[in-house]
Amino acid sequence: MKKTIAVITSGGDAPGMNACIRAIVLTANRFGHQVIGFKHGYNGLIENEKVLLSPFDVQHTIQLGGTILKSARCLAFTTDKGLIAAVENLNKNEVDALVVIGGDGSLRGLDRLQKHWDGQVIGVPGTIDNDLNGTDNTIGYQTAIDTALDSIDKLRDTADAFERIFLVEVMGRHAGFIALASAVASGAEQALFPESIDDPHTELESIVQHVECLRQVKGKSSIIMVIAEHLWPGGVSDLAETLTNQIGIECRPCILGHIQRGGAPVAYDRILATKLGSYAVEIINEGQSGVMVGEINNRQCAHKLNYVYSEQKELDPYLVKIQQNLFDVVQCLNLSKK
Ligand code: F6P
Repeated sequence: MKKTIAVITSGGDAPGMNACIRAIVLTANRFGHQVIGFKHGYNGLIENEKVLLSPFDVQHTIQLGGTILKSARCLAFTTDKGLIAAVENLNKNEVDALVVIGGDGSLRGLDRLQKHWDGQVIGVPGTIDNDLNGTDNTIGYQTAIDTALDSIDKLRDTADAFERIFLVEVMGRHAGFIALASAVASGAEQALFPESIDDPHTELESIVQHVECLRQVKGKSSIIMVIAEHLWPGGVSDLAETLTNQIGIECRPCILGHIQRGGAPVAYDRILATKLGSYAVEIINEGQSGVMVGEINNRQCAHKLNYVYSEQKELDPYLVKIQQNLFDVVQCLNLSKK
C-alpha cells in the first residue's frame, strides 16, 4: 500500500540528520511512498509549514551537517493546543506515518503524540548526546566526539607550550558520553562527568589532590581536564577560578559549545543514518508504530518509545574503568612510595 510519510528533525541538530532524511526519501521512493518534510521541528507540524521531498531534493546532502528541514525546540507542542493543531495538520495532509529524527525531548513529544493520533509514529535517534537507550550509537555522536577531539588536541599544543592546566567543557546534556570518549581519545589527564560524580562540592578536594599528584608525578607539564556541561555549578570558568586560587597555578577554561554540533558527519554517522532511515521506512511498511529504530551490535532493532528515554543509558563500564585506572595518580604516587 502506498503511504504518505512525514518527517521532521527536532531539537538539537546532529551531523547525519541530512543523511537520514535522504535515506528515508530514497527508500520511501523505492516503495512508491510520498514524503513530506515539515520544517522547524514540531513547529512545522503546528504551523503546517511543509515541503514535498523527492529524491532530487536530497541529492548531494549526505555530507552536509545541520538539517535541510531546519530544527527547533517547540514549547507550543507541549501544550494541548499545539498538540491538537499538529494532529489536525497531519490529518489534513493525509499523513499515514510520521518519522521524528531527534533526541530525548523530541521522542518524548512523539510518545505523547501517538496517544492522540491514529497514524504510525517512528522515532530515529538523532542527537550528539548518545543518551538514548535502544541503540549503541545515536546519529551525530561519533562526529561530535571527533570534533571535540580535534579542539582538545589543539588545546594540548598550547597547553604544553605554557605548561598550563586547561579545563575543557564538552556537551552531552546530562550524560557523560562525549566527555568520557573525548577524554580517553585525547589522553586527557582527567574526565569529570555526571555518572562519575555525586556532588561536585565534595569533589573539589579530590580534584585539587589529583592536580597536585599529577604535578608530582609528571613535573611541570600541561594538564587537560575534560568536564561535562551542567556538571559544575557556575561552569568551567568558575571551576578554573576556584582551582587557580586553591593550587596557585593558573587554570584556563575553554567551552567547546555548539561547535560540537556542526560539521560534516563522519563516515560512521553517515552510514548509521542511512541504515536507520531506511529501516524506519521498512518498519512502516510492516505496520509498526510507537517505536524508535536503533542499532545494537550491528543489528537493526526497534524499541518502544518510552523505553528509550525513561532510564538513564549506561556508559561503557570498561571505558569508565580504564579512564579511572589510567589516571589514578594518587594511587600511582602511593605505590611508588611503597
Ligand atoms: O541535545 C543536544 C545538545 O547539543 C546538548 O548537548 C546541549 O545541552 C543542548 O543540545 C544545547 O541546546 P541549545 O542548542 O538549545 O542551547
